[in-house]
Amino acid sequence: MTVEQFKKEFGIIGKAKEINDLVDITMQVAPTDISVLIYGESGVGKEIFARAIHGFSNRSEKQLVSVNCGAIPEGILESELFGHKKGSFTGAIESRKGYFEIADGGTLFLDEIAEMPLTTQVKLLRVIENKEFLRIGAETVTKIDVRIIAATNKDLQNEVDAKRFREDLFFRLKAVTLNIPPLRKRKVDIFDLAHFFIENYASENKIAEPKLTPEAANFLNEFYWPGNIRELKNTIESAIALNRNGVLDLNIFEILTKRDSPDKSSQNLPVYLKKSPEELDRELLYRALFEIKKDIMELKDLLYKKNDFDYRQENQAVTEILPLQQTEKEAIKNALDHSRGNKRNAAKLLHISERTLYRKIKEYGL
Ligand SMILES: Nc1ncnc2c1ncn2[C@@H]1O[C@H](COP(=O)(O)OP(=O)(O)OP(=O)(O)O)[C@@H](O)[C@H]1O
Ligand SMILES: [Mg+2]
Repeated sequence: MTVEQFKKEFGIIGKAKEINDLVDITMQVAPTDISVLIYGESGVGKEIFARAIHGFSNRSEKQLVSVNCGAIPEGILESELFGHKKGSFTGAIESRKGYFEIADGGTLFLDEIAEMPLTTQVKLLRVIENKEFLRIGAETVTKIDVRIIAATNKDLQNEVDAKRFREDLFFRLKAVTLNIPPLRKRKVDIFDLAHFFIENYASENKIAEPKLTPEAANFLNEFYWPGNIRELKNTIESAIALNRNGVLDLNIFEILTKRDSPDKSSQNLPVYLKKSPEELDRELLYRALFEIKKDIMELKDLLYKKNDFDYRQENQAVTEILPLQQTEKEAIKNALDHSRGNKRNAAKLLHISERTLYRKIKEYGL
């Protein structure tokens, strides 16, 4: 298989040299059992590469199990990973298989590995080295055959220096490292990615493909994209949803990418800060229109939901718990929208811990 065929097979868009080099390494290591460490900022494509590694390995017929180490409460992470025997701790009413056993013969993707507690790191190293582990409460070891892929957006060397990450595990993991560069460092790919997302969204929603104005394309190219490819994808999709006249222009992207507080995303954009009074006026107007449009859409949504609700009420008893769950889901969605996908900020807005937020995102499939 060539690099181009591989990218096509696994849905990887990009012609930047860095991406081709990464694909090249991926193709070489995928068929082996070597652990792989994937580095990269949020939204750069760590998971897409993890899937490609698994998909191109001899393990592809078996499961790829993804575990977000930052999302599972510390107290239960070990039992989630290694399983437990009935009665091994309060609440362990049944024996339970852990993710390692579920992934047996396949691949375990440990996302946000830097969040793994030190005690669990010791056990992980043991699994990697000896292919065995102890279920919690068990006296005999369980043998397994699992390939480990770990990902993080933190500098693990820093974590090692700060004694938050075990050096031996770090050495073991870093033998093969895929460093996925942020989108702003591979601008040649922005245009292709934007088109890919426009095409996909249009065909999924059965609408004509909208056109990007040259100014809008230039903006996408120059933006800092702190949320990387995920942010580009979300922005394009929101822009299409809001603009049904077939044209995606500069204004809509300026509004959609605007942050509440000045941050590094604007440092790269001097144009952004040097606006004439007319431009500022126009922007305010657009912003107001955008807010009104959003309100109308929310009202519509509410109306539909209400009708839906009444209809159900007529036909069957409505369980008490449903509206509360819906409200919670909406609140989480709003917070995520508001923080543009940044989970730490969203958790702050919701006054809950990041772990709780992760759990709820998973629970609601957000
Ligand atoms: N090279 C690429 N080509 C096409 N789509 C991509 C590419 N890289 C990422 N994506 C898409 O961007 C989104 C984010 O990618 P992914 O989930 O792999 O990022 P991540 O690094 O795991 O993010 P996080 O750190 O937030 O978990 C996904 O929808 C993914 O399909
Ligand atoms: Mg990810």
